Amino acid sequence: MSHFESATPSSVVRVSLPSKPPFGYDIPIGRGLRHCAGEMIAAVHKPCRALLLTDDTVEVLYADDVTASLAKIGFSVVRHVVPHGEASKSAGTLFSLLEAMAKEHMTRSDLLIALGGGVVGDLGGFASAVYQRGIPFVQIPTTLLAMVDASVGGKTAIDLEAGKNLVGAFHQPSLVICDPDCLSTLPANVFSDGMAEVIKYAFINDKVLFEALLREVHDCMEEIIRLCVEDKRALVETDETDVGARQLLNLGHTVGHAIEACSDFTISHGSAVAEGMVIITRAAVKMGICEAKTLSSLVALLVKYGLPTECPFTAEQLYAVALSDKKRAGGTITLVVPFGVADSRLVTVPVDALEGYIRAGLAED
Ligand SMILES: NC(=O)c1ccc[n+]([C@@H]2O[C@H](COP(=O)([O-])OP(=O)(O)OC[C@H]3O[C@@H](n4cnc5c(N)ncnc54)[C@H](O)[C@@H]3O)[C@@H](O)[C@H]2O)c1
Ligand SMILES: [Zn+2]
Repeated sequence: MSHFESATPSSVVRVSLPSKPPFGYDIPIGRGLRHCAGEMIAAVHKPCRALLLTDDTVEVLYADDVTASLAKIGFSVVRHVVPHGEASKSAGTLFSLLEAMAKEHMTRSDLLIALGGGVVGDLGGFASAVYQRGIPFVQIPTTLLAMVDASVGGKTAIDLEAGKNLVGAFHQPSLVICDPDCLSTLPANVFSDGMAEVIKYAFINDKVLFEALLREVHDCMEEIIRLCVEDKRALVETDETDVGARQLLNLGHTVGHAIEACSDFTISHGSAVAEGMVIITRAAVKMGICEAKTLSSLVALLVKYGLPTECPFTAEQLYAVALSDKKRAGGTITLVVPFGVADSRLVTVPVDALEGYIRAGLAED
């Protein structure tokens, strides 16, 4: 049963986590929901001090709407704004945020609300995981990537100079409020980045989503987001700590991470994942694992949503970097391989075999 009587989300996805109280949380999805944030949050947390964490771009666009809604219901809101961009997922930004929380005398009965993309969500999630050993937090994702991916699943992290997401915690939100109207202000390239993850879900196991993506998505983003959130929910519920089926979410990511690293992070995550999905799918075609039409369907969708399909690096360059990928375990590596549209499976191979996949995936003929 949904908590929300007067605010009207078009759908509510419930993430169940049986291992610890409160055993899960809701993800209401609906246009304009940011204006009802106060009411919705009050249904899961009594009015208190709320630190609203956002970045300098999102603050201008949406922080006033959320603040007004929270204030109306009796929350006392303190705003904390960080510069936009990945550089804010740093130890320095984290500690300034934690000091600000302490200066406000926030306690474990107060709340952090992360309003923004995956950067703000990961930073705010991690700060709330470690401040006083854990306080509640709510996510209001404003990018497509944050709505369909980063805000679901409870992974929080900051970066080190040695690499991305190296310090983090699993910390589940109390609520995730998803307002697709926020997507209207996203730059086209940031929207496309999110579409790479959407296409990923379709190729993992979602035929309905695949069919929807063949049509025009801009008018039905609520439904697209719902399908993706359901997909991630299902994988997260079966595998809360990322040891089994959840690894399917890495489709395109093993090679994608290598592409990002080879480009010194000038190629965006979404573009790198798009290129990574093409490489693994083309390799699967060459190895007789899937049909050529699976690859052409993938390439057509990526092009339709403004994503690149070819990467500028050689197999040697990519393999060298992929070898140091943190997802490698012992002498084997688990790859996510498409066996068809909406049918990807985990395949564990010796680490050396990865080079063969990359080589096969890069060659055009
Ligand atoms: N925790 C997870 O499970 C998980 C999963 C995937 C990605 N991530 C993390 O998410 C981060 C990437 O997230 P992202 O792509 O959302 O990046 P981001 O948070 O940097 O947002 C991208 C840009 O869009 C701007 N923006 C955000 N919302 C906007 C809006 N509605 N209108 C206009 N501009 C807006 C931001 O200011 C920023 O400049 C990475 O750090 C990645 O590691 C985490
Ligand atoms: Zn990703």
